[in-house]
Amino acid sequence: SAYDAGEHESYMRKEMLEQPTTAQAVLRGRLDDRFGTAHLGGLDMDARDLRAVRRVKVLGCGSAYYVGQMGAGLIEELARIPADAEAASEFRYRDPVIEPDTLYVAVSQSGETIDTLLAVQEVRRKGGRCVGLVNVVGSAIARECDGGIYLHAGPEVAVASTKALTNMFLGFALLALQLGRVRDLSIADGRRLVAGLERLPAQIEEVLAGEDDLVEVARGLAEARSLFFIGRVRGFPVAREGAQKFKEISYCHAEAYQTSELKHGPLALIDPDVPTVAVVPHDELTERNVAALHEIAARQGPLVVVTHEEVDLGEVGARRIVVPRNEPELDPILLTIPLQLLAYHAAQHLGHDIDKPRNLAKSVTVE
Ligand code: AGP
Repeated sequence: SAYDAGEHESYMRKEMLEQPTTAQAVLRGRLDDRFGTAHLGGLDMDARDLRAVRRVKVLGCGSAYYVGQMGAGLIEELARIPADAEAASEFRYRDPVIEPDTLYVAVSQSGETIDTLLAVQEVRRKGGRCVGLVNVVGSAIARECDGGIYLHAGPEVAVASTKALTNMFLGFALLALQLGRVRDLSIADGRRLVAGLERLPAQIEEVLAGEDDLVEVARGLAEARSLFFIGRVRGFPVAREGAQKFKEISYCHAEAYQTSELKHGPLALIDPDVPTVAVVPHDELTERNVAALHEIAARQGPLVVVTHEEVDLGEVGARRIVVPRNEPELDPILLTIPLQLLAYHAAQHLGHDIDKPRNLAKSVTVE
């Protein structure tokens, strides 16, 4: 066929390794070095429309929802517009208030996920504006939206999404940049982020090149009955996506938690049989994150920490996975890549059908 796994042992592996190239595709022709902004013709919104946005609500399901949470964080940070993400599958059931000055953003690889499609229809029926971050051109969600950003990740076959999710994050970065630059985001900050985005594909490649170092760690995690994925603020959706991917293909129970919430309950579960995968970037929260790792280590909880070179973990005895740094706002996507590799190698160790995990379909098109 036109798109097959070729020499790769699975589509998931092929799609993970394609990311440096597919990441370039979503950025191509959309970055403006001179003015430190993005050009998104498909959005169909002029500067005035963009300035009129008072709030952003992201809608997606599963991994698209988690990346949507990363995206909402980016928009709030860069554009200083209140933004959050919600599971599209819940949205319409609570009879949501649709506001004319809210920008709704539907995010979907397939563009056919029924829950996301129905959420878009709910928004539009009540007079709201909904744009799409969609991979499949001409799909139902793309057609239903007022405009959008195509993700250009190419076909994705594995049920566990990788390259499409990375491009969702990059699509959100472009949107956040444009929303920011028609407001208070400085040209200097805009240029800083454009340069960061231009560096990302090579850094993704660098993380993927470290794959061999992760195989043993992944096998260790695969033996666990249950594990935690933790992170805070920018790192929390990274942890959610990491746990999701792990569950989907390894069938191990993995629970994502805000690092800050551990002491409010789940710390009771930490013991030598429950490993924790912690997301600890070098940022303003590093010290607090490391303090939480000490709490886990004191209870003999095994630790795997996805982090930056500069972070000093002290005496926690963790297995460190180091990723390159970009601009802090863009770091979540680089922190996500090793979690894909961990899930992949755990599933492979357990002998599972990686591309077609049990009970799951690539896109859920019936309610
Ligand atoms: C991805 O790894 C998952 N299999 C799943 O959560 C997926 O992201 C979700 O079903 C949404 O699909 P979509 O992006 O095609 O709308």
